[in-house]
Amino acid sequence: MISKRLEDAINAQINAEMWSAYLYLSMSAYCHDKGYAGMANWFAIQFKEEQDHAQIFYNYLISRGGRVLLKAIDAVETEWASPLAAFEATYAHEQHVTSLINNLMHIAVEEKDFAAQSRLQWFIDEQVEEEENAVEIINKLKMLDGNGYGLYMLDQELAARVYATPSPLAAKA
Ligand code: FEO
Repeated sequence: MISKRLEDAINAQINAEMWSAYLYLSMSAYCHDKGYAGMANWFAIQFKEEQDHAQIFYNYLISRGGRVLLKAIDAVETEWASPLAAFEATYAHEQHVTSLINNLMHIAVEEKDFAAQSRLQWFIDEQVEEEENAVEIINKLKMLDGNGYGLYMLDQELAARVYATPSPLAAKA
């Protein structure tokens, strides 16, 4: 059984992950509108990954005898000044998510919930990757400095990103 405090915090995190999914779907729509189909693909996969994160927390809460409570998802932005601005917003958002995950781990430690700590470790590792991916694209966009051919090539590169089921869900399948 999970503590009420951790149950509440995980429910809040399910909402945060769904909001992240919604944010990245909005960024995908923005990139499509600007003609960057590859970047739109990158954000569409990000959208799926965030839904997966919500699903992992959802499954976990149920496994631990908790009660999932879904709340309203707040509206997200729809416009950015440029693709670079969208990726910079992605990085800032992922840093925020990292702080939320760290806070969940902090609660799990205080509650002496070792099982939750084990599950949260996956998210801690995932956040390193999330931040690193965003920074890598930001650096490339800065290097290109608006060069059309370079942007085309980067867009092609991001079009190649494919979805992979994360291990906590693959194990359930
Ligand atoms: Fe669910 Fe992008 O962290």
